[in-house]
Amino acid sequence: MNDAILPAAPAIPAAYFGERVTWVHHWTERLFSFRCTRDTGFRFRAGEFAMIGLMANGKPLVRAYSMASPTWDEELEFLSIKVQDGPLTSRLQHVAVGDTVLVGRKPTGTLVTDNLLPGRTLWLLATGTGLAPFLSLAREPDVYDRFDKVVVAHTVREERELAHRALFEHDLPAHEFLGEIVAGKLAYYPSVTREPFRTQGRITTLIETGRIFADLGVPAFDPAHDRVMLCGSEAMNRDCKALLESRGFAEGSNNAPGTYVVEKAFVTK
Ligand code: A2P
Repeated sequence: MNDAILPAAPAIPAAYFGERVTWVHHWTERLFSFRCTRDTGFRFRAGEFAMIGLMANGKPLVRAYSMASPTWDEELEFLSIKVQDGPLTSRLQHVAVGDTVLVGRKPTGTLVTDNLLPGRTLWLLATGTGLAPFLSLAREPDVYDRFDKVVVAHTVREERELAHRALFEHDLPAHEFLGEIVAGKLAYYPSVTREPFRTQGRITTLIETGRIFADLGVPAFDPAHDRVMLCGSEAMNRDCKALLESRGFAEGSNNAPGTYVVEKAFVTK
């Protein structure tokens, strides 16, 4: 083979690692996951995001994506929406095993346990791809040292969009090491809004009516014991924030821990 006739791969800008895609899974026509290699120098805290994307026309085309994999995983995983005319996701949805993706070298974010005061129950409330940071946190042994109970509540339009449902319902409880750690502590609470499902309705409604607390057999939100992380659309975050603040919760940040933290599920295009 004559190397001289192969087009040169575009150089990876210094702010990024160039990583190789190792796995792609399409959940629906709107939602997919992919995994890639991870540079040993890439460190992050569970719940953080990084700038992720592709080289396009010789330049990085990136958006903020939460790491969906736990910090101890050798690889990185991401969960993404697919928007046919979205600048990045119209391209990213076609990545295949062996392709190169860009991973920004500086992960950051507010959905980290350090931003929460100690508490008993950690509530991870997500809509759509907002589940991503919680896929990381729910597999982090340290989270179960800090909290007695961890609830992952995921609301989507259709049942098919309950990405990683099997992870919560089967794989994690059966996991060789994590199984014991999550046993009796982790609860998964899926809900669906646009078709019949055993738990139907928006998370806001399920909280307001008290249905989620009754179903899980736990007391209603109390800022003395409960800690909440929110990750969804702008509207979901706004409505959940209002609901929490009316119940006495206070937002935490990297400067001052609080009783809840929030971040939007960034990529919508
Ligand atoms: P709905 O079907 O009633 O709009 P999307 O796919 O548009 O990001 O939505 C994901 C999920 O978030 C859907 O189930 C949607 O419910 C729900 N949702 C949208 N807006 C809000 C909100 N303001 N509060 C709570 N859930 C919301």
